[in-house]
Amino acid sequence: MTEEVAPVKCVGPEYRAEDQKPTATVSTVVNYDNVTVLPQTPQLIALLSIIRNHSTARGDFVFYSNRIIRLLVEEGLNHLPTVSHTVTTPVGRPYDGLSFQGKIAGVSIMRAGEAMEQGLRDCCRSVRIGKILIQRDEETAQPKLFYDKLPEDIADRWVLLLDPMLATGGSAIMAVDVLKSRGVPEERILFLNVLASPEGIKSFASKFPTSRVVTAFVDEGLDEKNYIIPGLGDFGDRYYTR
Ligand code: URA
Repeated sequence: MTEEVAPVKCVGPEYRAEDQKPTATVSTVVNYDNVTVLPQTPQLIALLSIIRNHSTARGDFVFYSNRIIRLLVEEGLNHLPTVSHTVTTPVGRPYDGLSFQGKIAGVSIMRAGEAMEQGLRDCCRSVRIGKILIQRDEETAQPKLFYDKLPEDIADRWVLLLDPMLATGGSAIMAVDVLKSRGVPEERILFLNVLASPEGIKSFASKFPTSRVVTAFVDEGLDEKNYIIPGLGDFGDRYYTR
C-alpha cells in the first residue's frame, strides 16, 4: 500500500514567527476539489494527538473524539445551502444575515459511525437519523450491505454520511450507492470523517466527484490489514468497548 510523506510543519497562529511555533505532522495534502480538510490548527492537532495515543483511556477517547466530531459537523454545515435573511435586533436595527435552506438527515455507517450521531444532534436539533450496516462478506472479501433504515423522505434531504475512519473506501462507497439508489442525488451527500487514508480519499472522491468529503486529517496510508497508519487503531473498539 502507498505511503505518503506526511508533512511536518510549524503549527500555530499566523501572527507568530515560525521559530515560536512547535512542529507537528499535519494532514497529507490532497488535490481533490471535493475534499475539505479541516484547518490544521493547534487545537485540532492536540485533540488528534490524544485520540491517536494508544494509552488514552476510553473516557478521554470519547470526550476528545466528540470534540473533533463537533468541528467536522460545524464545517460540514458550512457546505449546505443558505439564503439571505434579514432580522431585526432588539434595538430595532436590521441585520442582514443568512438562514439555512433545505432539510437534512444524518446517516451513520454502523457501528463506528453511530459515535458521530450525537455531535450532529447537538448542532441540529431533531435531525432525522438513518443507519446503514455494511460488513465484509467472508466469501468474497467484498463489502456487503446487511441492513439499512433510512428516513422515508431521504430523497428530499441533504445527507450527512457519518463514518469516522475512511480506510479503503469500500463501505463509504457502498453507502453512497445505497443512498443514490433511494433517490438522494450524489451532490447532496456530504461525508464526514475523522481520519482518512490517501487511498480511501482517492477512491471516494474520484468515484463521486460531486459529493463532498469533510475530514479532519488525511494520514499516510494503510497497513497490510487495511488499518490506517499511523492512525488510531480500531475506532469502534476504542469508543465503545476498550
Ligand atoms: N477502521 C478503523 O476503526 N480503523 C482503521 O484504521 C481502519 C478502519
